[in-house]
Amino acid sequence: MKTIVGQDIGVARSYLEAGELVCIPTETVYGLAANGLDPFAISKIYQVKNRPSFNPLILHLGRKEEISKYSLEIPNKLIPIIDQWMPGPVTILLNKSEFVPDIVTAGSSKVALRIPNHSTTLSLLNSLDFPLCAPSANPSGYVSPTSAKHCLDGLGDKIPYILDGGETTLGVESTIIGYDDNLKKIVIHRYGGLSIEMIQDTILDKVIEHIHHDRPETPGQLKSHYATNTPLICGDILDIYKIYSDKNVVFINLFEKKDIDVYRQYVLSKNSSLEEVANQLFKVLREADNIGADYLFCEYADEIGLGKAINDRLRRAQYKLK
Ligand code: TXA
Ligand code: MG
Repeated sequence: MKTIVGQDIGVARSYLEAGELVCIPTETVYGLAANGLDPFAISKIYQVKNRPSFNPLILHLGRKEEISKYSLEIPNKLIPIIDQWMPGPVTILLNKSEFVPDIVTAGSSKVALRIPNHSTTLSLLNSLDFPLCAPSANPSGYVSPTSAKHCLDGLGDKIPYILDGGETTLGVESTIIGYDDNLKKIVIHRYGGLSIEMIQDTILDKVIEHIHHDRPETPGQLKSHYATNTPLICGDILDIYKIYSDKNVVFINLFEKKDIDVYRQYVLSKNSSLEEVANQLFKVLREADNIGADYLFCEYADEIGLGKAINDRLRRAQYKLK
């Protein structure tokens, strides 16, 4: 199948209505979308991505009003988040309504709902009479895509259309949140584009951080995710380099180049901005993965703001965790 890259919302819509898959831009990463109410179309996502069938999909909506259609109830605690951050880089886990096919949630009674903050995709969603199921548009296990080109590199010839909406502005996936059994506390299941600090400022309360890698509540949290083909080692770059100095290595620095002559060095943000680090991370990991190095070394960020999401992705991309 020839894959076309274009900017035509009407073409994307026709493919989706015909039960085909289309890559769509969002503010976080590109998604691989299908009609979220059509189990056959959704099954193609699992095939094309080679995604384990137990890993559920986020349902993307165009409007807040639709949240109540696809869920049973909305706990009060989540209302300020919905008011302030949807559309935005947050996904909420709610008890699913009868309208959500079981294949979307991989059999779970909870559905993950998100309204992406990207004008092209919001127009597309609002022109359709169904929501879109969309995981990140990468082959399962590889680094997530932040441009139409990344989608083409990973899924070219497997899907008919990539809707090009430019490079994503955020660069890490949405934060996944739910709530505890008493409906009293917000629980964080995946770190992402909406930081813990921003969530706590919004709800005026502390959250519970519940990130499980071994028996994850969100199965996409499995450890060997986001991995490059070239082994990636994270930590203090200069320390790691002592062990591997005879190898062909690439340094991925957060803010500053090191004074050492290695095969190649990247700096993720010259302005020391974690937003920029998040925005550049997947692009640079992909680029560094393709230059024939023996190893990639990357630094961790401080665990504040987007630092938690950045470090989470790095830990799971690490070679030794595979
Ligand atoms: O920013 C994002 O969230 C991107 C864009 C495309 O929207 N999507 C994304 O999807 O990251 P994906 O499939 O790569 O990651 C979704 C995560 C997985 O870890 C999955 O296990 C979890 O969400 N998830 C989805 N539905 C769930 C459910 N019903 N219960 C628990 N976890 C769920
Ligand atoms: Mg993913």
